[in-house]
Amino acid sequence: MASTNAIKFNSMALIICIALCAPILSMAVLTCCDLKPALTACESYARHGGECVSQDCCFEALNLKNNLINSHQDYVTACHCIQDAAVKMIPNLNYTAFSIIPEGCGIRLPFNFRVDMNCDNL
Ligand SMILES: *[C@@H]1O[C@H](CO)[C@@H](O)[C@H](O)[C@H]1NC(C)=O
Repeated sequence: MASTNAIKFNSMALIICIALCAPILSMAVLTCCDLKPALTACESYARHGGECVSQDCCFEALNLKNNLINSHQDYVTACHCIQDAAVKMIPNLNYTAFSIIPEGCGIRLPFNFRVDMNCDNL
């Protein structure tokens, strides 16, 4: 009887651990370093504008959205990283070009590219 309960307890603990631990193990938390490739690829367009957003920029931005951002918190982090990068580019930032990047790439994000966007309220 006691051993049956012990087995039940152990399998419960295992199930709980799989449910709680698996997502933590499989999903890395996003950092600004993960945005480096996208920020680098998009920097030139954000400075100079142009007819089309570069393919490199869109490729990296899409990769970011599809493969690296896994949670609401990741969006908040990404928003802050993008905002910081844009602020650092001032006065060489082309505000119009910067704001066009997501729609220029056909990507929907929960924030608009603006230097004064409110990243904590997405
Ligand atoms: C800023 O970017 C927009 C959109 O690409 C472009 O039309 C405009 O000429 C650029 N302005 C400057 C000062 O580079």
